[in-house]
Amino acid sequence: MEADPVTDHRPASELELRARIDPARVPRHIAVIMDGNGRWAQKQGEHRLVGHSNGVRSVRETLVAATEIGVEYLTLYAFSTENWSRPKAEVDALMDLLVSTLVSELEGLNENGVRLHTIGDTDSLPPGCRSALLQAIQRTAKNDRITLTLALSYSARWEILRMVRSIGQDLRDGRLEMHDVGEKLVDERLSTQGMPDPELLIRTSGEQRISNFLLWQVAYAELWFTPVLWPDFRKEHLFQAVLDYQRRERRFGLTSDQLTTA
Ligand code: FPP
Repeated sequence: MEADPVTDHRPASELELRARIDPARVPRHIAVIMDGNGRWAQKQGEHRLVGHSNGVRSVRETLVAATEIGVEYLTLYAFSTENWSRPKAEVDALMDLLVSTLVSELEGLNENGVRLHTIGDTDSLPPGCRSALLQAIQRTAKNDRITLTLALSYSARWEILRMVRSIGQDLRDGRLEMHDVGEKLVDERLSTQGMPDPELLIRTSGEQRISNFLLWQVAYAELWFTPVLWPDFRKEHLFQAVLDYQRRERRFGLTSDQLTTA
């Protein structure tokens, strides 16, 4: 019997799943809340950090899978504003992992046409981390197959506040009039400026929350939750999520009849 991609989260054959994806209806932008590294490690009696380092393979698989099916933007929630409150040893280890991953994956990013980008308060990252990011961003700047955005020291409320302050200042100083303030201006003042909104948001580990991620941008996104822990997330799971997305009817507030007659 064929596995149901909605209810069956066991990995089916990667090739078989990929073949069922309609290339004309692939989301342009997929956002992912990578969750469950700590639980994955603890389940095997390992330190939480082992979960984070095993999560790197899932990042690579997700990126390759997204590139294979023609996704243009992949945005990963790698470190939230709230994550700064974790034990210092875990924060330091995550920053080190980010740097070592950037160094080891740089060649692969270039071979696969990946342009690296970040969103978030990256000024608050340690200097070594900032310079590794800057280098990787510069060295991948000409790639145009897919944009990989890492959300680092990011939270949606942080970026919304920043946007409100920046618009407020321009109104106060006369650079903007009230009638200039609309959705387009808000889009332009968020850190995702220039990117399409994600059509699909994936969260792993069974939690069903948005956790302060891209709150403005996911207004119409399809949400896909899986119990799979992030270090176990493979290409097959991304393909399952996209297949499920393609089975849903996206109505944007209209009726089904309006959509069929449009
Ligand atoms: C959530 O799991 C995961 C993170 C806070 C960090 C994600 C980082 C990686 C996947 C490592 C490498 C990433 C890059 C981009 C190089 P959790 O620790 O909240 O897990 P838990 O909910 O089970 O405790």
